[in-house]
Amino acid sequence: MSFGIHRNWKNIMVEKISLSRNCKIIDVAGGTGDIAFRIAKKAQDQGLNIDIDVVDINPQMLEVGKSRAVDKNLFKNLKFSVGDGEDLKFNDQQFDFYTIAFGIRNFTDISKGLKEAHRVLKKGGKFICLEFSKVEDYFIQKIYDQYSFKIIPKIGEFILKDHDSYQYLVESIRKFPSQNQFKKMIEDAGFSKVSYQNHNFGVVAIFEAYA
Ligand SMILES: C[S@@+](CC[C@H](N)C(=O)[O-])C[C@H]1O[C@@H](n2cnc3c(N)ncnc32)[C@H](O)[C@@H]1O
Repeated sequence: MSFGIHRNWKNIMVEKISLSRNCKIIDVAGGTGDIAFRIAKKAQDQGLNIDIDVVDINPQMLEVGKSRAVDKNLFKNLKFSVGDGEDLKFNDQQFDFYTIAFGIRNFTDISKGLKEAHRVLKKGGKFICLEFSKVEDYFIQKIYDQYSFKIIPKIGEFILKDHDSYQYLVESIRKFPSQNQFKKMIEDAGFSKVSYQNHNFGVVAIFEAYA
């Protein structure tokens, strides 16, 4: 439904990670491993040994991730564990990077999730979040609304036989805070140097911050 553009957004997100030897990464709401695999591949290409913890609340997503990791031969240094991004079972100041793509929108308490991100990052560690955001251009917004509310649920209904999940998707996107509201929430969780970059007119934004 994104016409494949989501792959590009994920690639851009991973470009924002400067890996170094033995760095530790946590990918929260990691699902079937899309972000972790990109990071692992980047480390492999650079000849770096890194550790990635993929955490997701849904064990079935992680099972798919595990078998994809085996298929891609990227299993080494990847650890999959079931967990809640709002209550991470990791000690304080463990990680150099915290990544989350299209996940934080689903948290019940986003501020709590952000505080957890800050807690598990080392001092100076980097937070990178890819999320659907607000389209800022009035006319593009109108077109995007038509596509979101009229077409996406219909595709969900007729092709995927799942109208409700796609209705939830578009509604959760609309309820998510604007770029500046979310930036403020990240700052309130204790992060500094918070910035964001819009992509495709703000359909998504990538947020970066430091613990
Ligand atoms: C749209 S998927 C994104 C998966 C992956 N990050 C990607 O970009 O392909 C959203 C994921 O968030 C997970 N999720 C939702 N709430 C969560 C929570 N509180 N803690 C951890 N994971 C959560 C879901 O199980 C799902 O796998």
